[in-house]
Amino acid sequence: MDYVVRMKDITKRFPRVVANDRVNLNIKEGEIHALVGENGAGKSTLMNVLYGLTRPDGGEVCVRGDVLPASTGFLGLDYGIGMIHQHFMLIGQFTALENIILGAEPRLGPMLDMRKARDRVQNLMDEYGIEVDLDRRIDALSVGEEQRVEILRVLYRDAHIIIMDEPTAVLTPQETRSLFSTLKMLTQSGRTVVFITHKLEEVMAMADTVTVMRAGSMIGTMPISETDVAGLAEMMVGRRIEDMPERDADITYEHILKIEDVSLRSAKGQQLLTGISLEVHAGEIFGICGVDGNGQDELFEVLIGLRRPTQGRVIFLERDITHDPTSRRLKAGMAHIPPDRIRMGLVGDFTVRENLILGRHTDGRFSGRVFLKARAVAESADSLVRDFEIEPPVPEMQAGLLSGGNQQKVIAARELSRDPELLIASQPTRGLDIGAARMIHDLIVRQADSGQSVFLISADLSEVMKLADRIGVMYRGAIVGVVERTEATEENLGLMMAGAKA
Ligand SMILES: Nc1ncnc2c1ncn2[C@@H]1O[C@H](COP(=O)(O)OP(=O)(O)O)[C@@H](O)[C@H]1O
Ligand SMILES: [Mg+2]
Repeated sequence: MDYVVRMKDITKRFPRVVANDRVNLNIKEGEIHALVGENGAGKSTLMNVLYGLTRPDGGEVCVRGDVLPASTGFLGLDYGIGMIHQHFMLIGQFTALENIILGAEPRLGPMLDMRKARDRVQNLMDEYGIEVDLDRRIDALSVGEEQRVEILRVLYRDAHIIIMDEPTAVLTPQETRSLFSTLKMLTQSGRTVVFITHKLEEVMAMADTVTVMRAGSMIGTMPISETDVAGLAEMMVGRRIEDMPERDADITYEHILKIEDVSLRSAKGQQLLTGISLEVHAGEIFGICGVDGNGQDELFEVLIGLRRPTQGRVIFLERDITHDPTSRRLKAGMAHIPPDRIRMGLVGDFTVRENLILGRHTDGRFSGRVFLKARAVAESADSLVRDFEIEPPVPEMQAGLLSGGNQQKVIAARELSRDPELLIASQPTRGLDIGAARMIHDLIVRQADSGQSVFLISADLSEVMKLADRIGVMYRGAIVGVVERTEATEENLGLMMAGAKA
């Protein structure tokens, strides 16, 4: 069998970790090859090596039989390799067309031949079913459109091997489908696609071949027909992940949280939230989904008291808390898991134990004589470390040294141990591995099953569909619709995420 890419014994060490440990990867011409693995498994590093962006400490990269100068550095595009990174690298003030041709302009004498360039880009768009308004500025485009500009950019440079790092993380289901149809067309014309993802359903639906990495090592490569979602999950994690138990939702009509016509304008007059009204009931998980950046962070900040709405009210347990500071909201029975745990949720220099008791100094359970108090606090924190399976189970360790998943467990442990009436969780599993994400999901479900409530904000549609009883969709700072879980489909939610009214 002839491979278009052969990576042999690739090793890449970073100061604290071996990101790739003698990894072998073979890719066939014209296939869609999925690269999966948990966060930190070494996927991006391996692809950066293939693209020439990262120099490996050892190993060999061959493309069509040529050995590339990996140890000294090369430019992937010189070998027909194009890469689209997780974070796009376009220039906001330039148009889509300018971004596509930038640095590879055809010249007409000393002049730029824009006509010729545009024709060429248009041909690529026609051939692969890619739609972009070429004359719009990048900052006026949606994330999905920006991604299409990036694809055109590498195609314009004649890339035959196209690497995409987590391309669907930022897309609606409809955009994902259209991306996949583009990728299929690319392979039908003989190009090869490698895409990184951790969404296993996508792998099964799209890829011809899948490679699994775990902790810097290659676990295996196999054709899609020889595996399934459960099998891939097990290879990624190294152990079996049990299915979620069914929810036994017992929702009452008593409202715990009521948001009344809340709007928010920035200091510069930008409308960030517009007329948001909704209720969360006792025993309910209310989910908010939407493409990142449509007001979810601002809504979170209004709910926990970091921002005052310019209009409207927030009612919590029958009391108007619109102007209450965060501390008073917490005392009244709110808890929160912030989207940015490093910045908002943890103090990295404090120990795990100290983080577990942050904000609880005034807690009645711990008041009393100084020594008794210190001991009670330490014991309660230490039992949380055990109950929440924080790894390593060392309460004296600096919280900043834990992995992302374990940091998130520390926050969840602290917040849920306060037995809140309402948990407001924003992107609670972003960046977590499957095991840690599963644990957070169980905690969220348990919170609702015990008759309390959860307000869950997440860009991960499958997470919201799995957990929430009702789902509100945010688009440009407004709620475009609310649907019951039983009526929610990827299709109808996806349309609303793109702005269509329910
Ligand atoms: N530039 C870097 N410096 C130090 N460590 C890095 C760097 N890039 C990646 N790593 C580490 O290498 C490991 C693999 O990272 P990465 O390849 O990004 O994983 P993945 O893409 O599978 O999530 C991680 O532990 C990460 O922290
Ligand atoms: Mg990565």
